[in-house]
Amino acid sequence: MVLSTGYKKIKTAVFISGTGSNLKSLIKFSKLKKSPITIEMIVSNNPKSKGLNLGKIYKIKKKIFNFEKQAKVEKEILFELKKNNIELICLAGFMKILSKDFINNFKGCILNIHPSLLPKYKGLNTHERAIKNKDIYSGCTVHFVTSKLDSGKIINQKKIKISKKDNPKTLAKKILAEEHKLYPRAILKIFSL
Ligand code: GRF
Repeated sequence: MVLSTGYKKIKTAVFISGTGSNLKSLIKFSKLKKSPITIEMIVSNNPKSKGLNLGKIYKIKKKIFNFEKQAKVEKEILFELKKNNIELICLAGFMKILSKDFINNFKGCILNIHPSLLPKYKGLNTHERAIKNKDIYSGCTVHFVTSKLDSGKIINQKKIKISKKDNPKTLAKKILAEEHKLYPRAILKIFSL
């Protein structure tokens, strides 16, 4: 699949597992005239995701999938995405690792936001690790998704200074606020190439 721009906006699905604050910022961005995307679907592996409420508020289709049998469920998700002509997937706090097969079906069209300055701190507990290592800076990264965890091509990053007073919680809060600005910027960047 090739990402297309042109006149039509790119039909996007956002995958979440939790709060959905990045989803909210993407929805708000998608409503702007300058946005190249529309958000057509919210996908979650977790029926308790707070972010699912946004589907109701903004009248966006929500789909919850049980990942116990991942291979089977990924086929169902792909079917649903294709049925709705989804062209782009934005992972936003989605806590499942998608299979190589799934990613290949959406080659180059899956983005992720990660709360660290990749390639540093792939995986979980990024803020704890940055503070433990006495890093001076941390931040967030938007990147293309490949089958190697948190390793695809970087689109953009925002660096922030870690204060001596920061703990993982305060750092997460600071970085999250930056994530909300970074993800829309990344989308603008890839579609204005
Ligand atoms: C964000 O920090 C994101 O980078 C990480 O999980 C968090 C999700 O937050 N992968 P939210 O659900 O978007 O509020």
